[in-house]
Amino acid sequence: MAQSGDKFACLTCYDATTARWLERAGVHVLLVGDTASEVILGFDRTIDMPLDVLLALTAAVKRGAPNTLVMGDMPFMSYQADEASALRNAARFLTEGRADVVKLEVDATFAPLVAKMTRAGIPVVAHVGSKPQQAMLSGGYGSKGRTAEEAASIVRDAITFEQAGAVMLLVEAVPDEVAAEILKHTSVPLIGIGAGTACHGQVLVLHDLIGLTDSPPRFASPVASLGPSFENAGREWVRRVADGSIGGVRYTMKPGEVRRFRDLLESGLPLTDAPDRPA
Ligand code: KIV
Repeated sequence: MAQSGDKFACLTCYDATTARWLERAGVHVLLVGDTASEVILGFDRTIDMPLDVLLALTAAVKRGAPNTLVMGDMPFMSYQADEASALRNAARFLTEGRADVVKLEVDATFAPLVAKMTRAGIPVVAHVGSKPQQAMLSGGYGSKGRTAEEAASIVRDAITFEQAGAVMLLVEAVPDEVAAEILKHTSVPLIGIGAGTACHGQVLVLHDLIGLTDSPPRFASPVASLGPSFENAGREWVRRVADGSIGGVRYTMKPGEVRRFRDLLESGLPLTDAPDRPA
């Protein structure tokens, strides 16, 4: 699609049911992001995402969307500590997680690791620009590349990762000019998030798109308002439970069994001699 100039759409996804619907919708790439830490697990930082949980979610998404490209997001400390564990953890995304590609938030110092992963047969997406896993060092989440030096270093990182073998690049929260320069100097597909419209593909956190996030980032325009819909559904269920109008179809006893049931009870059926249940 990048070659033919057709824009491709990517969304985060964290479960099989949602993946099934997003595949039906024709979303081209599903990113099982470490934002699951925030939107699924309720932490306020992505660095709290446990590797094993993200692997399980990745496999779930692939089960729900077997015909869609699934990107597994390597969480904090699953690739920074040493290259051997980084390679093994990346491989787990392909084997246990059934991911098609893995994504790493990186600067150029990680180029040798990306080259080793590539040599091992692991397709890598290099995430540059704003890198939420670095937020404690960089003073929080926010944009990057707003000075000439920072912009140039992001473009340099992107070029370095293509040379190291990255199959795709992802750039987050940068001015349009930065994405435009990356596009000029690289040839692999570039996914943008808050990086303007020139990128080959666009990604958003699903919850920001469908109106489940209380304060979405400035670059995310919701297309739906599911938060209030969920709230209304919850409220309606509370009301139905209270007034006994729970709906659905009830179970009935087989013909003649109600009478036999009553007879049994009336005949003094001992109700207490059932075999002991395990504690
Ligand atoms: O984890 C994630 O969801 C991401 C996107 C915000 C790009 O990395």
